[in-house]
Amino acid sequence: MIQPVILCGGSGTRLWPRSRKDYPKPFLPLVGERTLFEATLDRCADPQQFASPIVVAGEAHVHHILAQSGDDATLIVEPAAKNTAPAIALAAAHLPPDTVMLVCPSDHHIADDAAFIAAAQSAVRLARQNWMVAFGITPDSPETGYGYILRGEAIDGGHRIARFVEKPDRARAEEFLTDGGYSWNGGIFAFGAGAFLSELATHRPEMAEAVQRSVVDASREGSILRPAANPFAEIVAESVDYAVMENTDNAAVVPADMGWSDIGSWKALRDVRPHDANGNAVIGAGELIDCCNVMVETDGPRVSVIGLQDVIVVVDGDEVMVTTAAGSQKVGTLKGAVNQ
Ligand code: GDD
Ligand code: MG
Repeated sequence: MIQPVILCGGSGTRLWPRSRKDYPKPFLPLVGERTLFEATLDRCADPQQFASPIVVAGEAHVHHILAQSGDDATLIVEPAAKNTAPAIALAAAHLPPDTVMLVCPSDHHIADDAAFIAAAQSAVRLARQNWMVAFGITPDSPETGYGYILRGEAIDGGHRIARFVEKPDRARAEEFLTDGGYSWNGGIFAFGAGAFLSELATHRPEMAEAVQRSVVDASREGSILRPAANPFAEIVAESVDYAVMENTDNAAVVPADMGWSDIGSWKALRDVRPHDANGNAVIGAGELIDCCNVMVETDGPRVSVIGLQDVIVVVDGDEVMVTTAAGSQKVGTLKGAVNQ
């Protein structure tokens, strides 16, 4: 059985004003009718292959998770937000060591579920051989918000990772694209629970120790597990990419071309949403004349646009946000997004 471990920790700034701090991206139905979190659970719902999911999240999002997940989910509530390495370690420390975890971010869109399952099966096969396995996405631009994976020698259904570089600067990302042989890290991983904890103990011994102690002292309320605040609160926040994937010698990658998007901006969301022949999409009351690649989303007032291209308009409550597609990278820096 594969153990899904779903991570929910969004800060809700990049898709502001639709996504807010108290109602972040995973819990919104941004593509289709299911929320991104629900769609993540759906992808790992086949009882022939998957155990009941474990969701790791902060206290602030517990009510969304309970409302959107089935009764069989186990919820691990982090005492503090410490990024993904400690969050994954909490699940690992709670599980028998020979369990294989499929770690899934809760805020991605995957168009091809069958390709996801095929990649997951390859990844799990490697994880059973103690590899720390990433999902590799074919890169199409020098994005700086991703991890870059240099594929090494071929191994059973994937490749050994020759080099893992988390969030390179623009110049290096361009170099990687020109050099070829690199994949983006899709942010989905397969890890053996025991193997993961032993890698963490090697590369981040204090973090591993603190997580273990907090799990030993956890309190339980039905299907909700609350690890002890101490010593978890002392942990230095760090993502799994920096803490483990950049450092381990046992990393592997499987190809995962599955129509993946991490919906990191309004432009990325526009690109995965259905649109008309001119590339336009309207959600809510809106009218477009002579527009091309324009997306309008409004929960109230009618939005009417004439003669624009590559523009995104979002109306949510009393906030209106207008940007070009290129400008949407900066939405998270708007005062409204920062000071919410
Ligand atoms: N429970 C919990 N606690 N979840 C968290 C926390 C936390 O403290 N921090 C982040 N998460 C969740 C996020 O909600 C998201 O679903 C996932 O973990 C990844 O975190 P992000 O903050 O979105 O990471 P990123 O996008 O900057 O980078 C990661 O994903 C990229 C692909 O989207 C890295 O793995 C990159 O290497 C990768 O390319
Ligand atoms: Mg992300």
